[in-house]
Amino acid sequence: MRELIATARALVACDKGLLAMDESNPTCNKRFAKLGIPQTVEPRRAYRELIVTTPALGECISGAILYDETIRQQKKDGTPFVKAVTDAGIIPGIKVDTGAKDMAGHPGEKVTEGLDGLRERLAEYSKMGARFAKWRAVIAVGDSIPSRGCIEANAHALARYAALCQEADLVPVVEPEVLMDGEHTLERCREVTEQVLRTVFSQLYTQRVALEGMILKPNMVVPGLTCPEQETVEEVADATVWCLLRAVPAAVPGIAFLSGGQSGELASARLNAMNARFKSRLPWALAFSFARAIQQPALEIWRGEEANVQAAQKALYHRARCNQAARRGQYDAAMEKG
Ligand code: 13P
Repeated sequence: MRELIATARALVACDKGLLAMDESNPTCNKRFAKLGIPQTVEPRRAYRELIVTTPALGECISGAILYDETIRQQKKDGTPFVKAVTDAGIIPGIKVDTGAKDMAGHPGEKVTEGLDGLRERLAEYSKMGARFAKWRAVIAVGDSIPSRGCIEANAHALARYAALCQEADLVPVVEPEVLMDGEHTLERCREVTEQVLRTVFSQLYTQRVALEGMILKPNMVVPGLTCPEQETVEEVADATVWCLLRAVPAAVPGIAFLSGGQSGELASARLNAMNARFKSRLPWALAFSFARAIQQPALEIWRGEEANVQAAQKALYHRARCNQAARRGQYDAAMEKG
């Protein structure tokens, strides 16, 4: 348990955060397709090499979440990615759910799968050098959803996954994501997020998960993407922090937000506002575990071309640094210039 707690704390230490680079092959391919990058194994490998070899990334990134394909791959020179990540001062982690599937009897809702055989898979990943794991549940918001059945099934699976992780000495990153898609208001997102988090922590308690040895990865409390009323950065920061204060026990060492499709700048600005306004009064660290909000500009620069690697790495490092500044409440839009 001491080691689990130390790893969980290390993941949110020094104002660093996590880099989610664990897109499944279908998700990675979808992002590649939009930019005309071939959707095959070598470009995926080359892209992940670009990320893990970004100079000085370990200054701002504490942990990198890998995908099953990636954790088994190497750099062109034969160095395993796990070693490259570790040598960069970054803790390797692994996505272990097998995806969100349509939920029987619950139209429009999903339940995340992957518990069968998980104990054996965790043992293998741990042997490969992973020290933490991630499981993502997705909760859609609509007129009559989310249902109690969907929230409870996903919370139960998250808690069973988290207990198995701790048994295997891996820190569970518990990710219940309330989606941004839809016309719903910020208030509706707040209400759903609070209900989901309360259910998740109740299940974590029931399944005997030690809160000191885990990280929560939630959504920010934001209005739906097509909601006509879009609150300010400060309003989002306040709603998010108040929601978390009501639902997340103080024993949790860190909360690392997902970005969920927000732009890099907006995600940094909102995280910054939370820390600038509340940091000294919070029981847990407020950090980041972004995929798109860190990677997207770099991916758009790279476009599968070797010649663009350095420029893409610069863009990746820049977003990571902006988010470290946001953890300190020192991010400023001026950082985006030049
Ligand atoms: P985004 O930051 O792009 O939402 O991804 C985070 C993540 O890891 C989703 O599981």
